[in-house]
Amino acid sequence: MPADDHHLLERRYRIMGRNAPLFYDKPVHLVRGEGVWLYDADGKRYLDVYNNVPCVGHCHPQVVEALARQAETLNIHTRYLHEGIVNYAERLCATFAPSLDAAMFTCTGTEANELALRMARYVTGGTGIIVSDFSYHGNSETLAALTTCSPTPEPLPAFARQIQIPDPYRDRQGRSDEELARVFASQVEQAVRSMQADGIRPAALLIDTLFANEGLPDRVPGYVEQAVRIVREAGGLFICDEVQAGFARTGDAMWGHQLTDAVPDIVTLGKPMGNGHPVAGLVAARAHVDAFGGAANYFNTFGGNPVSAAVASAVLDVIETEDLAANCRNVGAYVRSGLDQLKARHPVVGNVRSQGLFFGLDLVNDDAQNSPAPDKAKRLINLMRDRGVLISRIGRHDNILKMRPPLVFSKENADVLLTTLDDALAAL
Ligand SMILES: Cc1ncc(COP(=O)(O)O)c(C=O)c1O
Repeated sequence: MPADDHHLLERRYRIMGRNAPLFYDKPVHLVRGEGVWLYDADGKRYLDVYNNVPCVGHCHPQVVEALARQAETLNIHTRYLHEGIVNYAERLCATFAPSLDAAMFTCTGTEANELALRMARYVTGGTGIIVSDFSYHGNSETLAALTTCSPTPEPLPAFARQIQIPDPYRDRQGRSDEELARVFASQVEQAVRSMQADGIRPAALLIDTLFANEGLPDRVPGYVEQAVRIVREAGGLFICDEVQAGFARTGDAMWGHQLTDAVPDIVTLGKPMGNGHPVAGLVAARAHVDAFGGAANYFNTFGGNPVSAAVASAVLDVIETEDLAANCRNVGAYVRSGLDQLKARHPVVGNVRSQGLFFGLDLVNDDAQNSPAPDKAKRLINLMRDRGVLISRIGRHDNILKMRPPLVFSKENADVLLTTLDDALAAL
């Protein structure tokens, strides 16, 4: 690491503490971004295969222009009439099923999920929340307590129950998709029964239907639908966290849940919504929004301000005009076939999983169980970083390479990723 970066790191430790997270053994000191490329302080270029926030590409000129134009015209808190946010809310809701016909805005995914929980509890009269046993939905006190994918000082609350999400690669044990769906959905039944036994009424099932933090397991047809039916029969709502899955990444749909037949009651949004500008929110049935709004007098100073609305609209414009869903499908299929070829050449790759432009490689040890290889995954992401490609890792064993580039990723970019990955896998 250059001497200047050492100095900056020490200053950061001193002023921000040693535990403010940083990626890689040698942290990357970034100064500029453009499209799928990031540049460090020495001018070295990195291919960004990690970041979903800049979904239409780093510093997309149309988004930057929309932001600057609105910032020099008007920016103000959200309790005045402004056409920008109404236009955006109408456009956004039109991308969902007709039952999801109203929007509320926040600045972060955390706030969106917190608001969704409050809304679900208010409209159901219940308090019980079911989450997956390896999930993250935000950093407020309630959501930290519900976090199951990393340690938090807050214990899992009495109102919460965890369910395990099926991963066909590790959980199949000779079972068909139907059996897998049924066996794992029965955990939702048990969670509901256990709440009821403790006098807790279920308010919501809160999941990301791509199960990104869980490691992007292959979808088990019918599982989400069964889980949602069980929760609804017990009086709870289905809250779908689209903070990672949303905005066309799957290529086959604008939203992750649209790959299933389950229509959520509340959808939460964030990360890619503003391409890096902090705008997030939720979409729900107008009846829920009106009922909750009537009781809670909810407002958010910055959530959905005129600049955020202009930026979020520009992001939708680019997704539409550049047909980024089609790009996710085409380039996604191209990368997938390259990853399958790498699996055939490198025994350390136990399993390839993907949804559009979201990929996971399950790295395994050379043993009979194909046991997870977190140390190899850690080494590999550092080898990739040294070779100028940024990726990360996920999953309950921290052994699944996480690759989730901006949606403008091209086949040429894919070739760089695949060649570098081939080289780094060989160097492991
Ligand atoms: C699935 C999911 N939900 C919610 C959040 C929280 O979003 P934010 O960091 O904007 O509060 C995250 C952040 O990583 C996430 O991955």
